[in-house]
Amino acid sequence: MIIVIIGAQWGDEGKGKVVDLLADRFDIVARYQGGHNAGHSVYVGERSFVLRLLPSGIIHPDKVCVLGNGMVIDPKAFFEEVDQITEQGVVVSPDRLKVSTRAHLIMPYHRALDHTSEERLGNEKIGTTLRGIGPAYEDKAGRRGIRVSDALSPDLLKLRVERNLEEANRIIVLYGNPPLRADEIIEEISPLIERLRPFVAETSHFLAGARKEKRRILLEGAQATLLDVDHGTYPYVTSSNPTAGGASVGAGIPPHHITGVLGIVRTYATRVGEGPFPTEMLDAEEPIAHLIRERGNEYGSVTKRPRRCGWFDAVATRYAAELNGFDSIALTKLDVLDELYEVKVCTGYELDGRVSDTFPAVSQDLRQLRPVYRTLPGWKSSTLGTTRFDELPPNARAYVEFLSDTVGVEIGLISTGPERDQTIIMEGSTMEGWFAG
Ligand code: IMP
Repeated sequence: MIIVIIGAQWGDEGKGKVVDLLADRFDIVARYQGGHNAGHSVYVGERSFVLRLLPSGIIHPDKVCVLGNGMVIDPKAFFEEVDQITEQGVVVSPDRLKVSTRAHLIMPYHRALDHTSEERLGNEKIGTTLRGIGPAYEDKAGRRGIRVSDALSPDLLKLRVERNLEEANRIIVLYGNPPLRADEIIEEISPLIERLRPFVAETSHFLAGARKEKRRILLEGAQATLLDVDHGTYPYVTSSNPTAGGASVGAGIPPHHITGVLGIVRTYATRVGEGPFPTEMLDAEEPIAHLIRERGNEYGSVTKRPRRCGWFDAVATRYAAELNGFDSIALTKLDVLDELYEVKVCTGYELDGRVSDTFPAVSQDLRQLRPVYRTLPGWKSSTLGTTRFDELPPNARAYVEFLSDTVGVEIGLISTGPERDQTIIMEGSTMEGWFAG
């Protein structure tokens, strides 16, 4: 069985907890795109882990984790994270962590270029995480990237760094920054590559073998659908394909071997960085945004930036469901809305006097449209830690059912708090089957 998990909105939907919950039922957890721009917070009892690059499965000692070919990997960030979780008592060894030979490396000049690129865009900046993600993917598409397998050969690494740096320095200097030195980069990177060597593997071959042996594989998306470079709110997107199709390419798994797709959807929406956000709570609604931000701890787990908060956008979520083919949805953070008198759901977009339920391709349209809302009564009581759907307040149940109906996908799991056991599994759902099987 191979299941893909994908954020349906602009990220931070609470994938970390769901992957962590599901990881119990899987043998292998693999990531297939992005790099350390992701940020999963996982809470296990008293302990909390922040994972950027490593799949959440790494916390479970009996799971094998894979960083797939579609990823961009900063070796420094990789070992910082490995060291950090090792200090927290997690054993990380090459037999349980495998890095694709074909993944691309993020080099120090990619980080520098991420800064200059944002500077160049000025008012139109993307608001990236400044981790060098975009420039590393640019080099990949430009066919000058350095793959993990290239870096294992010191001569090739030196050659590629020298060649790429010549180009990168032109831009770095143009923006008034000091040029980087190839010898310093090689000196910094070489010991890290040597340390990485035992972790390097032919990961798609490994995954194919695992599937044949009937081992269960979870493919963990980072970022989310609306940040997808093809399908998201371009150009305010990340540089990879978090959507379900990206899982096949980025893990090297044939599409028809994927058993199912689980969408992670939060009861409200957030966005970090720039870019259009139709249901954003602005002005008069800022106190509600503030309440949600505080109750939901809506601050970037990597960058600590306060997240922009907004109402549930059924148009955008339906678009995500369609693109990814969600079989089931895990709905997170229900408890965060417990204190609201009423909750709003965007059911359509009004643009130039016409109401539409399709998600526009043009970012400018997304900025100009007026969301059409349906207002539902709040439940004004605690749902924190509820484990049965029939024990939820009636208005909370009605809200969940309304979301499921408007998006057109079953809700198989509801998260009612950050802990593993603060979860409702919906009886008879596809999701329950995945848990059981
Ligand atoms: P980049 O991925 O650093 O290039 O950033 C591109 C856009 O994606 C920016 O708006 C970031 O804030 C956003 N982004 C990247 N990773 C995440 C994430 O894990 N959660 C939410 N937003 C993200």
